[in-house]
Amino acid sequence: PIERQAFPDDFLWGGAIAANQAEGAWNEGGKGPAISDVIRNGIVGGQFDGEVVEGHYYASHEAIDFYHRYKEDIALFAEAGLKCFRTSIAWSRIYPNGDDEVPNEKGLQFYDDLFDELLKYGIEPVITISHFEIPLHLITAYGGWKNRKLIDFYTRYVETILTRYKDKIKYWMNFNEINHFHTIPLAAGGILIEDEETKLQTIYQASHHVFVASAKAAKLCHDIIPDGMMGAMLSLSPIYPHTCHPDDIFESYQLRRRSLFYSDVMIRGVYPSYVKRIWHEHGIEVEMEEGDLSFIKEHTVDYLGFSYYRSSTHQAGMPILGNTGGIIGKDNPYLEKTEWGWPIDPQGLRYVCNELYDRYNIPLFIVENGFGGKDEFNANGEIEDSDRIEYIQKHLIKINEAIMDGCEIIGYTWWGPIDIVSAGTGEMEKRYGFIHVDKDNRGKGTLNRTKKKSFQWYKQVIESNGKSI
Ligand code: BG6
Repeated sequence: PIERQAFPDDFLWGGAIAANQAEGAWNEGGKGPAISDVIRNGIVGGQFDGEVVEGHYYASHEAIDFYHRYKEDIALFAEAGLKCFRTSIAWSRIYPNGDDEVPNEKGLQFYDDLFDELLKYGIEPVITISHFEIPLHLITAYGGWKNRKLIDFYTRYVETILTRYKDKIKYWMNFNEINHFHTIPLAAGGILIEDEETKLQTIYQASHHVFVASAKAAKLCHDIIPDGMMGAMLSLSPIYPHTCHPDDIFESYQLRRRSLFYSDVMIRGVYPSYVKRIWHEHGIEVEMEEGDLSFIKEHTVDYLGFSYYRSSTHQAGMPILGNTGGIIGKDNPYLEKTEWGWPIDPQGLRYVCNELYDRYNIPLFIVENGFGGKDEFNANGEIEDSDRIEYIQKHLIKINEAIMDGCEIIGYTWWGPIDIVSAGTGEMEKRYGFIHVDKDNRGKGTLNRTKKKSFQWYKQVIESNGKSI
């Protein structure tokens, strides 16, 4: 192990999941259907059925049954030494239809019990308020975030959970990967794009609603929880120019702005000047109510959470308006890839931390990073996931460098500390965990949990506070 020094004493070492990818129990305890319950083959890009169709397999319905097994799983997280644990609250457990007047007590009680179990071991819960699991009714009856009414429904939900859990939760995030509005409007915003012609108008209008909602959530957090922190959460894997051709450089810069647009508004509290040209050239007119802009300005977020898995490269001329980065891009000859074709780029994480801290100067929280791959049991019945360890190790070394560069980074949550359903494809066999779950892509398996080699490795990283990566 390499001796390193620079992680702060209170660094939040953790793990992260999302309710819809882990809990299962999709219709138990009074929960209403969420968008994730009616999509097959991955909430991100799969088939939206609009309702549960008999005979179809929906991975979220059982997932890894975290709803019933969380005590066993949290005991394992505690054994690994996690200091924090990020999960989301499934909105439709609290408001089954999204527009209900009264919250569902059973849903509220479930999260009380879950958070108590974490706190029992001294694990700090970190909560995403909306992670690709909008109540289905808000999509079918209102059209998702393109409808301004969503602001009120979301605000009611946020007020309910902040009030209920104010003594248990300090770290909140308003929306998961909200910059994915452009690439995956359905999962991120509950928006079905029927007309490509008006897509951008719809996306920017819906984004405005989200900005008002973000400001409401920040205000509620600051009013209700004096030491609470409301964060934004974006997918911020970097975009490199394909060559040093000035057009590649400038277009990559513009493409990056499609993502940073969301953090620019939520953190700085103002619409950036570059968006005016985009709106003008595409004939976009965003409807705003009086007071929206001053409200957004007054109530900004406290920290920036982000996911980082890979980098992508952009060449001038590739379509940019519909995309915010991610897998799209030219092949980068300098990087190896995972089995799922994701370029492995630890240095890119250091780059992004520096880019973001220079731009915003507020705390950063790396709330998703990890290695999705297949796992095999060896002859001794063990999983030696050395490739996963190597991936995390290299990324942690670069986080350490970023901290030494001067970035304020408050924590790191390993995506999928326990194997969960993939958001991209709905597979179980794209595994991220240091804990294996016996379940396959068709939903078969005992659901038994087994520690992988990476479990011990991460445990000693946390024990040494990152000195021994
Ligand atoms: C992020 C999402 O985009 O990437 C997670 O916030 C998701 O929900 C993660 O699971 C990894 O992607 P995938 O497709 O491998 O599950």
